Amino acid sequence: MNRMKISASILSADLCALGAEMKRAEKAGCDHIHFDVMDGVFVPNISYGIPVLESVRKSTDMFVDAHLMITDPVRLVENFAKAGADNITFHAEAAADPKAVIEKIKGCGKKCGISIKPGTPVSAIKEYIPMVDMVLVMTVEPGFGGQGFIYETLDKIKEVRTIADELGLDTDIQVDGGINDKTVKLVYEAGANVMVAGSYLFHSADMAADVLKMRECEK
Ligand code: DX5
Ligand code: ZN
Repeated sequence: MNRMKISASILSADLCALGAEMKRAEKAGCDHIHFDVMDGVFVPNISYGIPVLESVRKSTDMFVDAHLMITDPVRLVENFAKAGADNITFHAEAAADPKAVIEKIKGCGKKCGISIKPGTPVSAIKEYIPMVDMVLVMTVEPGFGGQGFIYETLDKIKEVRTIADELGLDTDIQVDGGINDKTVKLVYEAGANVMVAGSYLFHSADMAADVLKMRECEK
């Protein structure tokens, strides 16, 4: 399994001070910036999009992980790639032809992730696992920060890790939603290695200490 990476979801940051918030995450030892894109159709919320990503790109050298919670993602892959995403993750449920989306992302020279919501079985994406760099197993219903972790998703994380191991792949497994110093241990043991955290990190009084707490399970 690849080293644990912590991806700070700026959805819970003070968006009027985004540059400073990203510096706070970097200084605290986070590895990635997680950029949630919501279209109000695939999920019942709207966040931010391409112009904000361009500003994010200009103000950080950190790896930017874009999580597209949008319908028919293939339409906008190039725009997000040009705006500066290093990784683009899309939802299998939102794409008519997931393989075409993967090829488009790869064709833009970006890392590619495929995601499933809590109710979607791993079997829906099994054939795509060898084609992607990362599988995102959502651990809450996508759309909002600050929700409680859904424990039933742990079995799906194990299932993805088993499939990747059987195929001899070093696929990153990302989890997103309800991740904190306690749930991180459960998902790590299940086989996840890329941990997205929003409210736990940005609502923290001492983010560096909380990042260290998250990394304790790796020792
Ligand atoms: C939810 C987003 C998450 C969100 C996680 O749809 O994809 O990235 O920011 O928030 P927390 O860590 O607060 O559950
Ligand atoms: Zn996300």
